[in-house]
Order: sequence, then structure tokens, then C-alpha cells
Amino acid sequence: MTTALPRPAALPRDCTFDPDDWAILARHWYPVALSREIGDAPTAVRLLDETLVAYRVGGSVVVAHDICPHRGVPLSLGGGDGSGITCAYHGLRFGEGGRCVRVPAHPESKIPSRLNLRTFPVVERYGLVWTCLRPAPDADPVIPAMAHWDDEGFQQINCPSIDIAAFAGRQLEGFLDVAHFGFVHLDSFGDPGDTVVPDYSPVRHEHGFSVDYWSTASNYPHGTDKQAPPGFRWLRHFDVHLPFTATLVVHFPDGGRLNIMNAASPVSARQTRMFAPIARDFDTDQPVQAVYDFNRTVFEEDRAIVEVQKPENLPLDPKLEVHIPADRSSIAYRRGLRELGLSHFFTA
Ligand code: FES
Ligand SMILES: [Fe+2]
Repeated sequence: MTTALPRPAALPRDCTFDPDDWAILARHWYPVALSREIGDAPTAVRLLDETLVAYRVGGSVVVAHDICPHRGVPLSLGGGDGSGITCAYHGLRFGEGGRCVRVPAHPESKIPSRLNLRTFPVVERYGLVWTCLRPAPDADPVIPAMAHWDDEGFQQINCPSIDIAAFAGRQLEGFLDVAHFGFVHLDSFGDPGDTVVPDYSPVRHEHGFSVDYWSTASNYPHGTDKQAPPGFRWLRHFDVHLPFTATLVVHFPDGGRLNIMNAASPVSARQTRMFAPIARDFDTDQPVQAVYDFNRTVFEEDRAIVEVQKPENLPLDPKLEVHIPADRSSIAYRRGLRELGLSHFFTA
């Protein structure tokens, strides 16, 4: 007779992850929304298969389980006014910290604490709302670092998020991949005549690894009148923060710096919401719409590939896919995920 292993307590309903992988992933911080998207009204968001609601009270964001503790109706169906949200079914009202502040059926009675919402910690950083489903007790939030965001002379841009029907690990690995520019990014910046990948070496650090990648592959958008001097070697500095965030600083020929964060938020094992804060110290007076549009073109080119990759998960066993020397970052990435203790990623 076989005995089923007990599921870890409080796994989300319909969890698409292996339960042990979920428990590891849930210790990390992820963005769930752009700050500007969260206002007074309750807004549904999803992270690691957990249904969450986000709203603002007195300027601060509350992130809570999107299930009313009374009769299980999603709070995101209700309304809000900046001092709290109201459930659509019986009007229970929730304010700061998810505390229940009113039960309309019994306005004079003491409110039991069990009516409070189950909340999660929140940090607003880089124009994003970050949360963590299973933070370690008394530990400080660990939000991936982004160089230049606060530096003088840099402009902060928050591109609209992009939804991808693929696993966050596949998407992040694609962001680190330096061999596909001249094949996939033909409408944005890729050059089919410049596809050789010079050597590079990932260097480990506390939260993942970094890579200095030098090549002649240009980062100028097609259609621009700017050109790098002949033989110019572009430096792309990648910094990976496991499990699903990376930043890329591109060093331009005229000394300009462009930092793009790729924060792949794992909605489920098969769905990802990609956030991309950008900091740059050139064209800082230009409207941001052109940056949104270029960023969208680049990430749509990537999306078309990542959504068709098979298997849908990221094989962490090095023997399961074939590697070429250009893949040193992907190999380091998969090793890093294995070292977090992750295994299969998917239940089905
Ligand atoms: S279900 Fe929310 S108030 Fe009753
Ligand atoms: Fe790409």
C-alpha cells in the first residue's frame, strides 16, 4: 500500500507547481502590479497560483488574500474609497492592514479578529508593488537591486507589464540569452550579420550571478540615425537575482547607460507577468511612449519564442537539453535554481 505524501499546509487551490518547489518559490519577493495601477478600488492580482487583492489605504498598499473571510467572495468584486474596501456580498469593510472595521449587519457589536484579511508584506520599489507569500519571520525584505534607478541624471520609466503564456524561468533565461539577437530581434535591434557570441564568464554572487558580455552587437533601435563607431564593443552587464529577476545595463558608445530590469512574476507555472522598470541617462526629456513601444516590440519578439518552447518548464537536469558555449549564462542560471533546491517546477 502506498501512502500519499501530505501536501504542505495552505498550498493555493489548483496549484500548478510541485508542492516542494512552491514552498521554496514562495519565500522570494515578486512584483505583482505597477504602483500606478493600484488605487482605492480593490484590484485582483495573482502570484504563484494564489489569488490576491491589492488596494490603497491612506496612500499605502495592502495586499491580501482575495477571499472574504465571511463567505468566500472575492474582495476584488467590491468597491473602495481610499480609506478601505467593501465586500460585494454583505458589505464587510476592510481598512488599513486588512483589518475588518465594519460589519453592517451588526454595527454596534465588537468585530472578531478572525474577520481580518490574511495579508502579505508589501514594498513599493522601482514603481512596482512587491510582495512575498511566505516571508521568513523577522527577515528584512530582499528586493532585487537595480543600479542607477536613484542616480542623479537618470530617468525612471515603468513600461506596462507584458503577459506571457509561459513559465517565468523560460522567460528569464531568454532575457539572459545573448545568441538570439540576430535571429529573433529583427524588427527591433538585431543584426543578422552579427551573430557570433564572444566568450564570457558568469561570476557568482550572493543572490545569483553577474556577467560582463562584450560584443559588437548593437543596441540601437533599427531606424535610428545613430551608429556605433566601427569595431565598437558594447558592454552588456547582466545581473541575475534568483529565481526570476535580472537586470541588464547596456553601455552605449557615447557613454550613455540603459538599465532594464526583467522581473518575471510567476503567476502560475505556465503564466508570467513581466515587469520592466528602466533607468537611463540619455534622451531623458523625450516622451516615454517611444520607450514603451520599443520595449514592447523587443519583448513581443521574445514572447513568440518562449511561448512555443517545449517542455514548458525549464529542464534543470543539464542532460535534458543540449548546450553550446554561448549558453554559459543559462547553464549558470539552471545551476542556481537547482541550488535553491528547486526540482520539477510543474505538477502537470
Ligand atoms: S462574503 Fe464578504 S461580506 Fe459576506
Ligand atoms: Fe530577446
